Amino acid sequence: MDEQLHLPGSCRLLRLPVRGDERGKLIPIEAADAGFDIERVYYIYGTPADAERGFHAHKELRQIAIAVSGTCSIELDDGREKASVTIDHPSVGLTIEPMVWHVMRDFSEDCVLLLIASAAYDEADYIRDYERFLAVAAEA
Ligand code: TYD
Repeated sequence: MDEQLHLPGSCRLLRLPVRGDERGKLIPIEAADAGFDIERVYYIYGTPADAERGFHAHKELRQIAIAVSGTCSIELDDGREKASVTIDHPSVGLTIEPMVWHVMRDFSEDCVLLLIASAAYDEADYIRDYERFLAVAAEA
């Protein structure tokens, strides 16, 4: 996978390898490519165009977000800088690193947002209060 522009909190855009032939396309993601052991996969779909999701940071969880169908934008905020990234192709992954406040919005009707995660769901790993996030980020 390939690294590109500078994003907050060491988040990265990944160009995923497309294996294609006349039968269609296939993109494999191995744990070695992900950069972490994959412990969980979940996906978000059927999201209304005006919905906003996220509004949290994780203490330790690492994730890769892929719009396997459609498009959405993900705002990244490490407490010092913000950037908004539109992901719009199955061959593009966005890493969402620990201590990055993220908001997902602008979902297309056909958006299926796949998240690949380094750990099981654990509410204790979430920081859902923005002021607390800023305070913790400032200590780091
Ligand atoms: P939430 O983390 O608030 O979603 P988002 O960050 O996209 O806004 O999770 C929504 C609900 O789904 C909440 O009740 C917790 C539950 N959930 C799980 O049970 N397992 C999971 O892996 C995730 C991500 C959420």
